[in-house]
Amino acid sequence: MLPRKSVTWVLLFLFIFFNLSTSQSDPRWAAKKRRLRNKVRTMFYHAYDNYMIHAFPHDELKPLSKSFTDSLSELGNLKLEHLPQDYNGSALTLIDSLSSLVIMGNNTEFESAVVWLSENLTFDVDARVNLFECNIRVLGGLVSAHLLATDSTDRLGQGVYKNQLLTLAEDLGKRFLPAFNTPTGLPYAWINLKYGVVENETTETSTSGCGSLILEMGALSRLTGDPKYESAALRSLRKLWSMRSSLNLLGTTLDVSTGDWIEYSSGIGAGVDSFYEYLYKAHILFGKEEFWRMFHSAYIAVQKYFRHGPWYHEADMRTGKATYWQLTSLQAFWPGLQAGNSKPFHISSCWRHCCCKLIPPYLLDHQMLHPTEKYYPLRPEFAESTFYLYQATKDPWYIEVGESIVNSLNLYTKVEGGFASIRDVTTMQLEDHQHSFFLAETCKYLYLLFDDSFLVEQNYVFTTEGHPLPVLSSWQDRLPDTYIHSNWTSLKTEKEARRTSAMSKQVCPSTTLNSWECAGQQIESACHIPDVHSDHRCLTDEECGIDSTNCRRRSCSMAGYCGLWLFI
Ligand SMILES: *[C@@H]1O[C@H](CO)[C@@H](O)[C@H](O)[C@H]1NC(C)=O
Ligand SMILES: *[C@@H]1O[C@H](CO)[C@@H](O)[C@H](O)[C@H]1NC(C)=O
Ligand SMILES: *[C@@H]1O[C@H](CO)[C@@H](O)[C@H](O)[C@H]1NC(C)=O
Ligand SMILES: *[C@@H]1O[C@H](CO)[C@@H](O)[C@H](O)[C@H]1NC(C)=O
Ligand SMILES: *[C@@H]1O[C@H](CO)[C@@H](O)[C@H](O)[C@H]1NC(C)=O
Repeated sequence: MLPRKSVTWVLLFLFIFFNLSTSQSDPRWAAKKRRLRNKVRTMFYHAYDNYMIHAFPHDELKPLSKSFTDSLSELGNLKLEHLPQDYNGSALTLIDSLSSLVIMGNNTEFESAVVWLSENLTFDVDARVNLFECNIRVLGGLVSAHLLATDSTDRLGQGVYKNQLLTLAEDLGKRFLPAFNTPTGLPYAWINLKYGVVENETTETSTSGCGSLILEMGALSRLTGDPKYESAALRSLRKLWSMRSSLNLLGTTLDVSTGDWIEYSSGIGAGVDSFYEYLYKAHILFGKEEFWRMFHSAYIAVQKYFRHGPWYHEADMRTGKATYWQLTSLQAFWPGLQAGNSKPFHISSCWRHCCCKLIPPYLLDHQMLHPTEKYYPLRPEFAESTFYLYQATKDPWYIEVGESIVNSLNLYTKVEGGFASIRDVTTMQLEDHQHSFFLAETCKYLYLLFDDSFLVEQNYVFTTEGHPLPVLSSWQDRLPDTYIHSNWTSLKTEKEARRTSAMSKQVCPSTTLNSWECAGQQIESACHIPDVHSDHRCLTDEECGIDSTNCRRRSCSMAGYCGLWLFI
C-alpha cells in the first residue's frame, strides 16, 4: 500500500473567499462546467454502484474480477501480517462515500446508508487496523457524515436520524484509545479493534501516524463532549513536536515506546505530509494559536531545507543536508500550492512532463520516470490541487486541467466493473483494486471543481481523506482577540464571554458567500475587512482586506488576486 498523501492544504483557505467571477457569467462556460460535473457524477456512480453490487458490505471493490477485498485490515500492512481469519469487512467504501453522496445531493442514498450502517455495522471485530488509515477513512467518514446529517439542511427524513453515526464514531474512538497507552503518549501504528494492542506489536510508526489525528479525534470530542479523544491526539502531537531538531525538522519514522527517531531523513512526502496539513487545518477548525505557531515554524524550516529551486527534496533532520532526490506524486504540488502567488508555472511544467497526465513518481536529478514506482492508484492529489487552485484564482485554465483529468481517468482506468488502479503508467497495466479514496476524494474534488454550490453557505475544512468538517464558531477554543465583541466586556469572565459568543453565534464570518444565520440577522465577524474590489482582483496588498475566518491579513498575489498567501 502506498503511503498517503499530498499537501494541498496551503490553498485550503483560499476557498474561504470567493465569489464566482467573470468568465462564469458566460452561458457557454456554465454549460461546460455543468457537462463536466455530470461526467464526474457518472464516474462516481459507476464506481459506487459497482461497489454496492459486487463488494458491499466488504471493504473495497476489485473492479476487474468484480469481487471484493476486506482491505481495512490490509491498509498500510506491507507485509500482510496478522491478517484476520474471520473478518467480513466494515463497508469501508460506503463509509468513505457518505460525504460525497451528500455533496452530490443524493439524500435518499445517504439515508439508506445511514440506516444500513446503524443496523449492521459493528467495530467489535477481531481485525488489526492501521490507526492512521482507520482514523482518516472510517472515523473521519462517520464524523463528517454525522455533521452533514445534523446541519440545518434537513437532508434526512424526519425521525430517521438519531445520531447513529456519532454512536458508531464514538465506539470506534474508544477502540483507538488503547493505542495511545505508551510511555510517550505517541500511539502505536496498529490496533486490534476488538482486543486492543496485540502482543509484541511493533513500536515503529510514522510522523503522520502520530501527528494527523487531531481533526477527526478533536471533532469527535467536540461532538460527544468527551475530551479524551482530543486530549490523546493533542498529547501525541505535542510530544511529536517536542522531538523536532534544532532546525525545526522532523524525521519520518520513530519509536513510540522510547520517543526516538528511527529514520532521520524526511521531506514533505510520504509519512510526513499530512502532519503539516493537519497543523494548518487544526488551526482553522479549532482556532488554537498553538497549531499556527507549530505550523509556521515547521513551514519555514521546510522552505529553508527541503527546497531546491522549484522542487522539494528530502533532508536529514539533524543537519538539513539533502538526502533523497525523488519527487513523488504525493508531494508534486507543494510548490505550485504554496506559490499560488507566483508559480502556476510549477503546476503547468509538471503537468507537461508527466506521462499520460497522471503524475507518476519523478526523479529530480534524472529527469526521467522512476524505474520501479510506476504505480498510480487513482490518487486524488492532482484533482485536489486543481480544485484549490481554481477556487483561488478562478482561472479557467484549471477547468481545462480538470477536464483532462476526467478524460484520462475515463480512458485509462474505467473498466466495466468500476475504476481500476494503474499498476504501471508506462504500459497502463491495471490493477484489480478500486481504492475507497477514489470515491472519497478524486470524484469529490473533481465534482467541486465544476460545481462548488456545496461550499456557498458554509466554510469547511477538508480532512486528508476529503471529508468536510464545517468551521463552526462554537468549536473555536480561543478566538483571536479581534473576534472579541466590545459588548462582551460586560460579561464576567473572558472565558464565559467566548462561550456565550460561540453559543449564541454572536459572531460569524459573514460575506456574501459565507453567511450564517446570526440570531436572525447577519453580523460581520469583528475582524473582517472586505477586499476593495468585490471580484478580489488587486494590484497592491493595500487593496486586500482581513480574512473573516481567521482574521489574518490578506495580500495581493502575482496573479493579481487577494488571498492568504503564506509568507510572501
Ligand atoms: C464472515 O462470513 C463467513 C461466511 O459467510 C461467516 O461464516 C462468518 O461467520 C462471518 N464472520 C463474521 C465475524 O461475521
Ligand atoms: C442516488 O444513488 C442511487 C444509487 O446509485 C441511484 O440509484 C439514484 O438514482 C441516485 N439519486 C440521485 C438523485 O442521484
Ligand atoms: C442489515 O443486514 C441484514 C443482513 O444482511 C439485512 O437483512 C438487513 O436488511 C440489513 N439492514 C438494513 C437496514 O439494510
Ligand atoms: C512475544 O515475544 C516473546 C519474546 O520474543 C515470545 O516469547 C512470545 O512468544 C511472543 N508472543 C507472540 C504472541 O508472538
Ligand atoms: C450590549 O449588551 C446589552 C445586554 O446584552 C444590550 O442591551 C446592548 O444593546 C448591547 N450593546 C451593544 C452596543 O451591542
